[in-house]
Amino acid sequence: MALLPPLLLGRRLLFLLSPGRRLPPLLAASRAGSWWAQVEMGPPDPILGVTEAFKRDTNSKKMNLGVGAYRDDNGKPYVLNCVRKAEAQIAAKKLDKEYLPIAGLAEFNKASAELALGETNEVIQSGRYVTVQTISGTGSLRVGANFLQRFFKSSRDVYLPKPSWGNHTPIFRDAGMQLQSYRYYDPKTCGFDFAGALDDISKVPEKSIILFHACAHNPTGVDPRPEQWKELAAVVKKRNLFVFFDMAYQGFASGDINRDSWAVRHFIEQGINVVLSQSYAKNMGLYGERVGAFTVVCQDAEEAKRVESQLKILIRPMYSNPPINGARIASTILNSPDLRKEWLTEVKGMADRIIGMRSQLVDNLKKEGSSHNWQHITDQIGIKKNMAFAFQVERLTKEFSVYMTKDGRISVAGVTSGNVAYLAHAIHQVSK
Ligand SMILES: Cc1ncc(COP(=O)(O)O)c(C=O)c1O
Repeated sequence: MALLPPLLLGRRLLFLLSPGRRLPPLLAASRAGSWWAQVEMGPPDPILGVTEAFKRDTNSKKMNLGVGAYRDDNGKPYVLNCVRKAEAQIAAKKLDKEYLPIAGLAEFNKASAELALGETNEVIQSGRYVTVQTISGTGSLRVGANFLQRFFKSSRDVYLPKPSWGNHTPIFRDAGMQLQSYRYYDPKTCGFDFAGALDDISKVPEKSIILFHACAHNPTGVDPRPEQWKELAAVVKKRNLFVFFDMAYQGFASGDINRDSWAVRHFIEQGINVVLSQSYAKNMGLYGERVGAFTVVCQDAEEAKRVESQLKILIRPMYSNPPINGARIASTILNSPDLRKEWLTEVKGMADRIIGMRSQLVDNLKKEGSSHNWQHITDQIGIKKNMAFAFQVERLTKEFSVYMTKDGRISVAGVTSGNVAYLAHAIHQVSK
């Protein structure tokens, strides 16, 4: 029997196919003839589930704080003015749609490395690096993970902060690496567990790989301070660890691109030859354009050439060459002084709106009469943070139509001048 009877489709089918259940004879027979009989139903994506439930809710005050994308103060997706202008300039040029080279758009790659490391960085000046264009931050991490799998001979172990972005584990695991962790977040203080991180990192076997979020750590919003980064760099150097920086939020954390890449630059100054993933999803709002970069800092320019040749060999059978449109937009912005200036102002505007919403949320909680210490809300950085009221998520959703992921994180980017008071009221009601 090739097709399933229609009455078995939908929710009931999901239930019937859940792992560990014995199949009823009809379904077992229908499966027997299929190539995919052994494929189990996978769990739904936790964030998309939140959005589905939000769409079904009819409460006019409902809020979706599950998705980590920036929204303007009217709660709407935001396309940056500099992006609109760059698009118009590109359209006016009537450029062709030929394939890019395997490593992507050269002027984009150069501008990306300069943005991350600073134009005057010795690494840039001496050419001892290679940057390839990638399919946003995720693609960059995956190219990096595959490169390590193929060429990093000292260890398979990648140490992630605990917790880390949910996609880090499957990216590295699917590339054939093994995941380990180091202490990072302290739920007692809702802050960085500096002592725990130092202690764990000092015990990591030499020549292992360690991943750091360059700024706006996701999901905690907690970043080391510069003095703490200095100590982390020292212990990393002492243990001779290999450093992978993930920088998905440059400019978005503080509003200042140089401040947000301070840790990456400091590690390099200390003689640590890092690899780096960059994404333009958040800081240019180019989410769906999928534009990012992967950089390897090398010993010298000759090594960079060899590494570049192997990155191309790795990328060619994966996706042949990257998409052209997003890289043209980002490159136009980065390489034209006027648009770049406007971009820096707009990034700061986005970061400031988020920082402002954090303090308005705390002010409104105080106005409601909340006596809790909410300081972590203003201390944390970036869009998608706050792990303090995980225990009350269900009530917030059921009673107030405030939607968020189960661990109690809210996307501050979804909070606006119009709904911050309502959110504070809801949080106070479930936490008093
Ligand atoms: C820590 C971190 N790294 C990488 C990414 C990559 O995102 P994208 O593939 O959309 O650039 C994200 C996005 O949420 C992230 O939070």
